[in-house]
Amino acid sequence: MKKNQKVYGTGLLAERKIKFVLMYTIFIAFLFASWSISTAQSPLTKKIDTLAGEVEKKVIAWRRDIHEHPELGNREFRTSKLVAEHLENLGLDIKTGVAHTGVVGLLKGGKPGPVVALRADMDALPVTEQTGLPFASKVRTTYNGSEVGVMHACGHDCHTAMLMGVAEVLAGMKEELPGSVKFIFQPAEEGSPAGESGGAYLMIEEGVLENPKPDVIFGQHITTDYERGYIGYRPKGVMASVNTLKITVHGVQTHGAYPWKGVDPIVTASQIVLGLQTITSRQLDLTTAPAVVTIGMIQGGVRSNIIPDEVTMVGTIRTLDKGMRDTIHERIRRITENISESAGATADVTISGNLPVTYNDPELTAKMLPTLERVVGKDGLVLSQVHTGGEDFAYYADAIPGLFVFLGVRPEGTPPEESIPLHSPLLVVDEDALVYGVRALANMTVDYMSMEK
Ligand code: NI
Repeated sequence: MKKNQKVYGTGLLAERKIKFVLMYTIFIAFLFASWSISTAQSPLTKKIDTLAGEVEKKVIAWRRDIHEHPELGNREFRTSKLVAEHLENLGLDIKTGVAHTGVVGLLKGGKPGPVVALRADMDALPVTEQTGLPFASKVRTTYNGSEVGVMHACGHDCHTAMLMGVAEVLAGMKEELPGSVKFIFQPAEEGSPAGESGGAYLMIEEGVLENPKPDVIFGQHITTDYERGYIGYRPKGVMASVNTLKITVHGVQTHGAYPWKGVDPIVTASQIVLGLQTITSRQLDLTTAPAVVTIGMIQGGVRSNIIPDEVTMVGTIRTLDKGMRDTIHERIRRITENISESAGATADVTISGNLPVTYNDPELTAKMLPTLERVVGKDGLVLSQVHTGGEDFAYYADAIPGLFVFLGVRPEGTPPEESIPLHSPLLVVDEDALVYGVRALANMTVDYMSMEK
């Protein structure tokens, strides 16, 4: 018994020892595994942040230079030259003159892996700057026949400068990169001059998403909704699809004192404007998605006592849902035609444009959230509202999975209710925010590559 007991006791002890050793081994193995997972990305992550810090001053200088020399869509000659020279100096393969003035650079990493596309837009707006900044634009030009000032009032100067910075950061780690990066510097995001095509649509037509085909695309837009150190994201539809609406109402011209002798297209057009407003207010389920129908211009008549023959109206349609977009188009035609008929007039309705909803791939968005959180911290990453503005990044994200985020640049100390919107002649940007944009794009690129290699 004693012996047996001893044997039994020794056996128990041995078993405990084995259990302990086993658990200890598992624990060490687990520690090692988690260490190797976390360090699989850390050398590049640390390097990105170091290089981004080094390039920050240059990014601000490029931004100021581009800001002082803004160019309208399809006329970004100086800007694209600046970009092309920079990419060439970094040793990238470049293509210029894509979709008029676009520049595309390819950085081939030293290791095999996916192709990540990064996009910035380069064009400015016909806005006369009133910021009074030392590098404010004094440029003037002729736009659709009128003389106007030109200003980077939508922050595309920042987008271009940040992507130039990202190119420098990633070129600085070329050999360690597990994949390739396609840098897309795009003209005419705000639209092309009358009679010209351009922007993302033309870039795609001219093959920017081929040879090599990017697996994903990332882009960003500055916003004065947030201060520096904040990034807004939203899965699925985030910015609206855009259609342009043109209505011509045909009446019968007559003397203003004898309206019964003609058909008044001005009164008919007025009824149509009000009728169209019932589409969004009475006929759509706005709990599904927001929608907007705006008439922005009415033209007709030459003097007080002549009822004209014709009235022309143009407007814009914004939606975040494809089905809803089709419904709106159908209702616009129905309301316009029936109101016209009731007045004895006729009307032509033309709906043009094909800008899709800017759609953030939900899976890609979820994959990139930890990266964005690392860049701005847990509190800095916020769920963005949907925007009824449009963005032609939508064309890329319609063709391949894309993610478009919003970078906070509202000057520190400005309350949200006093923030100056984009496209304002008074737009001022907190330039210290730009390094966050450089880090966001560079980190998303490298993390995506590390996940998918
Ligand atoms: Ni913009």
